[in-house]
Amino acid sequence: MFLPKLFLVFYTLSLFWKKNECADNRKFPSEFKFGVATASYQIEGGWNVDGKGENIWDRLTHETNLVKDNSTGNVACDSYHKYKEDLALLGDLGVDFYRFSLSWSRILPTGYIDGQINDAGVKYYEEILSELEKRGIEAMVTLYHWDLPQKLQDDFGGVLNDTFIEVFANYAQLAFELFGSRVKHWVTFNEPFIICQQGYENGLKAPAITKAPGIDLYTCAHVILKAHAKAYRIYDKSYRKTQNGKITIVLNTDWFEPASSDSKDLEASERKLQFQFGWFAHPIVYGNYPQVMIDRIEERSIKEGFKESRLPKFTDNEIEDIKGTYDFIGLNHYTTTLAEWSTDIAIGKPKSTKDISVNIFKNSSWEGSASNWLKVVPWGIRKISKWIKDTYKNPEIIITENGYSDVGGIFDDSRRVNYYREYLSNVLKAIYDDGVNITAYAAWSFLDNFEWLNGYTEKFGLYSVNFSDPERPRTPKSSVNYYKNIMATKCLVDQCL
Ligand code: NOJ
Repeated sequence: MFLPKLFLVFYTLSLFWKKNECADNRKFPSEFKFGVATASYQIEGGWNVDGKGENIWDRLTHETNLVKDNSTGNVACDSYHKYKEDLALLGDLGVDFYRFSLSWSRILPTGYIDGQINDAGVKYYEEILSELEKRGIEAMVTLYHWDLPQKLQDDFGGVLNDTFIEVFANYAQLAFELFGSRVKHWVTFNEPFIICQQGYENGLKAPAITKAPGIDLYTCAHVILKAHAKAYRIYDKSYRKTQNGKITIVLNTDWFEPASSDSKDLEASERKLQFQFGWFAHPIVYGNYPQVMIDRIEERSIKEGFKESRLPKFTDNEIEDIKGTYDFIGLNHYTTTLAEWSTDIAIGKPKSTKDISVNIFKNSSWEGSASNWLKVVPWGIRKISKWIKDTYKNPEIIITENGYSDVGGIFDDSRRVNYYREYLSNVLKAIYDDGVNITAYAAWSFLDNFEWLNGYTEKFGLYSVNFSDPERPRTPKSSVNYYKNIMATKCLVDQCL
């Protein structure tokens, strides 16, 4: 009688211990902020109501069959109509800040400032900001989360054309003017690496143009960096003083772990990081592209028969203008990949992966998720944070996205809870053990939503959304309680030190 009872006690204790075995039991600093993130096309719906113009994701979802489940963002979570309910949920969740993006073509249907300003669109965002204010939740607003007004794509090729710089700057200025007094953090662009590499090389994001690999993506990044700098300078000169906010660009990267301790694999890992994160971070911190990109792309371009490098060059003035255009580093990080040295891929038709010539792969023992690229590797967030600290002069870092996908319909989402616990444990280690200045963290995502070419097959939300019900009801998953508790206690385990 006694023995089975004892066994049960030990068994329960061991489960408890296992649950918390890796979690760090230190508290986040009292001023550390927690939030959740979303993006307009992924949650709003209302794609053609109240004067909104068409954007490149409307076009792609309506006119191609690239989306896995043939779905669209026409309705998505219907947040355009259900924002009051959503804001009430955010209040209940207890976030310090909400990261969301503006749908450019909802505010300026053609994209141009001299087109008509759509009052209904402006009012929509004003109401969101009021609802946030009412609850004491800070706003972090992204100007461009991939939904370019279609007319700008049609008129001049969108982000491949320098015309974009002025057009974007006008839109940004309008947003500062209209909403800036209530926005604490601005983000110009979300993940330019993805915009350029997937939008203009491998066809995995709108406008899915694949006609000039190894060329268009570099033009895209060049234009975006200049547009970002212009918007930053406008904010700096005319709005910062009165509005008191911060502004940056959000960059995404995996941690690229060297496949072995061989110095060649270390070099491969560093090169891969420079070609992804450094491609944008190096210009905004130091003014120009990383030297390894400049050298390798030029060398290959010449061998391929180009007269000059496929990587465009900044003028001295542009370098001065771009340098320092960040008030903090915005980091989207989800996973880790192994990087292994390889001999340079033979010269032939250009392609950006050939410019890098690094083998990348995943460790088969890493836990998976519903997204083939997303393996659960919690220590990676600590390593990438430390690398950013060491490479870019110890900047303030805000983790603007981090999260886990499942296939949906899982309300007791213990794997997501585990992901947050373990990744946040490593954020604590980065802060306390490595001295990284991470000041805030946003979970991706607030709601299950439209996951781009994967449609509704991969779910990242803390709240589930029933997409087959016209009312789009929201239901909290177990992760809601866990995240609530972290925010209330600043602690990842049942009791912190
Ligand atoms: C990054 C993107 O910003 C977001 O739109 C996307 O849904 C998540 N990663 C997950 O893939």
